[in-house]
Amino acid sequence: MADNNNLITKRKKEHLELCLTDKVSFKNKTNGFENYDFIHCAITEVDINKIDFTTSFLSKTISYPFIISCMTGGTEEAENINLRLATVASELNIPIGVGSQRRSISNNKYDNSYKIIRDKAKRVPVLGNIGAAQIVQLKEYSNLQRLVDLVEADVMVIHLNPLQELLQKEGEPNFIGLLQSINNIKKKLNVSIIVKEVGSGISFYSAKKLLEVGVDGIDVAGAGGTSWAGVEIMRNKNKKYNQFWDWGLPTSYCIRNIHTLKEKYNFSLIGSGGINDEFENAKAFALGADLTASARIILQTLNNSGTSGVINLISSWFDTLKKIMFLTGSNNLPELRDNKIIKKENLY
Ligand SMILES: Cc1cc2nc3c(=O)[nH]c(=O)nc-3n(C[C@H](O)[C@H](O)[C@H](O)COP(=O)(O)O)c2cc1C
Repeated sequence: MADNNNLITKRKKEHLELCLTDKVSFKNKTNGFENYDFIHCAITEVDINKIDFTTSFLSKTISYPFIISCMTGGTEEAENINLRLATVASELNIPIGVGSQRRSISNNKYDNSYKIIRDKAKRVPVLGNIGAAQIVQLKEYSNLQRLVDLVEADVMVIHLNPLQELLQKEGEPNFIGLLQSINNIKKKLNVSIIVKEVGSGISFYSAKKLLEVGVDGIDVAGAGGTSWAGVEIMRNKNKKYNQFWDWGLPTSYCIRNIHTLKEKYNFSLIGSGGINDEFENAKAFALGADLTASARIILQTLNNSGTSGVINLISSWFDTLKKIMFLTGSNNLPELRDNKIIKKENLY
């Protein structure tokens, strides 16, 4: 067990180190947002000063529909990062995810590295996190309830990372019973469920299956941002699986397609995967996202410019979003989602 714990600490450290660089970005595949442009509205009748992003998420009022994506926990270094990320979430009044809580299933030594998020960000929605590989092996639902209680999670996020499990030396690429497990968790735990990828995206078909087993939200975490194949290939120092580096469905494609499921299902659609600037953020909303989320750019900005840097980054993205809404004649996000974006190929 001690060895296993040391291995996990080492792995988490390596993940953080690699994600502070841009070496783990997708190489040739993009998130696809550059293929779209906004439709300029010369007859806009919007008052920019009246645009307000305050909304409700998981029964709490938040100031921006933006989530600090699930990233870390389970080490001392993670505790410090989570404390600072929680400060940002609290100041901006936005939701924040904790990293995989797998470590707390078998060992409570690092519980505080997760709990610190709830301690610091008391009012905001906090997202718990556990992986597909863990839930398919779960014997006791009380173990999962403990993770929810630990951070007083408003929702439990289940991350689907088949590509990462496949390429990770210590990975567990066996997801038999996944949908049934999600369904059981939904029935047995008194908490909402969001399912997310980690950078390979979720297809229309997969999303539909997930909605049929009752998930409350889908975070596409599409291709074009952080490549978790890239992270594991770099950790393994083995280029054998290089062709998987760019595996996955681009973020824009996932949002656009999964959005159409809104006609039949009631769920929150979160757009993420390489949302690294204000226009990508705005285009994710225009294509159908209810909320957006980012991970690596947040970690990098925290590292380079501290909590104030992250606060400035997120607020400036939403300032620009207001300008784009003014120029497209959108008083609110539902109006921005209504035919305000066009594929560039249709402009010429
Ligand atoms: C350092 C780091 C650690 C991460 N750990 C987790 C995790 O524990 N659980 C999870 O669901 N996603 C995890 N992710 C994935 C992100 O939540 C996100 O889905 C993915 O990185 C794509 O977003 P991005 O392109 O903005 O980085 C992690 C990302 C980073 C950068």
